[in-house]
Amino acid sequence: MAADKKGADAPATQQIHHPYVPPAGFAAVAPALHRASTVLFEDVAAMRASHWLDKSTYTYGLHGTPTSFTLEARLATLEGGTHAMLAPSGLAAIALVDQALLSSGDTVLIPSNAYFPNKNLAAHELARWGIAHRLYDPMDLESLRAALGPDVALVWIEPPGSVTLEFPDLRGLVRTVRAHAPRAVIGLDNTWGSGLAFDAFDLDPGATPELGADLTVHALTKYPSGGADVMMGSVVTRSKDLHDRLWMSHCRLGLGVGPNDVELVLRGLQTAALRYAAQDAATRRIAQWALGRREFVRVLNPATPGSPGHEHWAAQCRAAAGLVSLEFDPAYSPERVERFVDDLRLFGIGWSWAGPMSLAVPYRAGTDRVSATSYKGTVVRLSIGLEDPADLIRDLEAALEKLGSTTGA
Ligand SMILES: Cc1ncc(COP(=O)(O)O)c(C=O)c1O
Repeated sequence: MAADKKGADAPATQQIHHPYVPPAGFAAVAPALHRASTVLFEDVAAMRASHWLDKSTYTYGLHGTPTSFTLEARLATLEGGTHAMLAPSGLAAIALVDQALLSSGDTVLIPSNAYFPNKNLAAHELARWGIAHRLYDPMDLESLRAALGPDVALVWIEPPGSVTLEFPDLRGLVRTVRAHAPRAVIGLDNTWGSGLAFDAFDLDPGATPELGADLTVHALTKYPSGGADVMMGSVVTRSKDLHDRLWMSHCRLGLGVGPNDVELVLRGLQTAALRYAAQDAATRRIAQWALGRREFVRVLNPATPGSPGHEHWAAQCRAAAGLVSLEFDPAYSPERVERFVDDLRLFGIGWSWAGPMSLAVPYRAGTDRVSATSYKGTVVRLSIGLEDPADLIRDLEAALEKLGSTTGA
């Protein structure tokens, strides 16, 4: 229907160009959710004046809305940084850093016990672009020193190791890189620490110059979400220059995130510290219980005495997340340990961690994720959720009962 005789717009047009503006001054606990592909400008001059690098203005939905900028600001605070950007997943955040900072001829160093997809990305995608990678043993500073060279542009640190949870000497690792590869950027995967267990940008408060990572990546999929229902990642820095370098690549690559996902993470963040503390406490209780069981030769959890790097954890951390890995006596075949996992009633079988439901994943020794040099038995990684830990222990005991002794069938 066209405009009427008096020149009023037709109903379809009116609904798209309605003049109503709600009164200012509304306040609620949850930040407003803004959805946009198109961002509207006051006039052409304002459009021309805007630039995607400038986060005090808006250019296009892909590059930020008030909602995504709010999440970025909260994450920067959580991790002790000053600038943040969002990526579609934790792995996408790692890939963004690699792509933004590495060029053909460069080398990236990755801990040998790192989250496997980080190594996989380097071995396949980065290799195709003429970027080399070397693995180092994060528990041995000499191994890192030997891997450093003038070709190294980026060093990843991941405390603790992804499956086996060895906790490294973070200060020693950072000092070694600064001393032997001054041009290398240090990227720290802060997913486990979440900004709550230690200060990635300030590992030795009072030290001058500051001792810390140059950037952190964080799989927001884990604690910040907490719901096991959303994927997102972030990159946080303290340096505006480094942020802008990364942000330029981010904008060129089109790594936007969906507004509804941002809303979910904003919601989860408000309870992240409480969930983290509860999951940490439950995990330590389960680790203590596991120390008393003859089926396990090692209980891997940074906060548990006897776990590799426990002393570094004790010297550097305030808290310890919700992961514990159990190394079974090698007399139990991998198949028997896998049946134990199948027999668990309350633990889901699936990837990821930090959600409400506890999860269990078995890893055979001598695979990409569990070094055969250090581990002989099958390792089961438990992600402890928000169930009552007494119920989880009863469930573990029932499945161990079925497993029987080392000499059983
Ligand atoms: C230590 C660590 N970093 C990064 C990631 C990747 O996060 P996402 O699953 O959001 O890609 C994970 C996922 O398990 C992880 O455990």
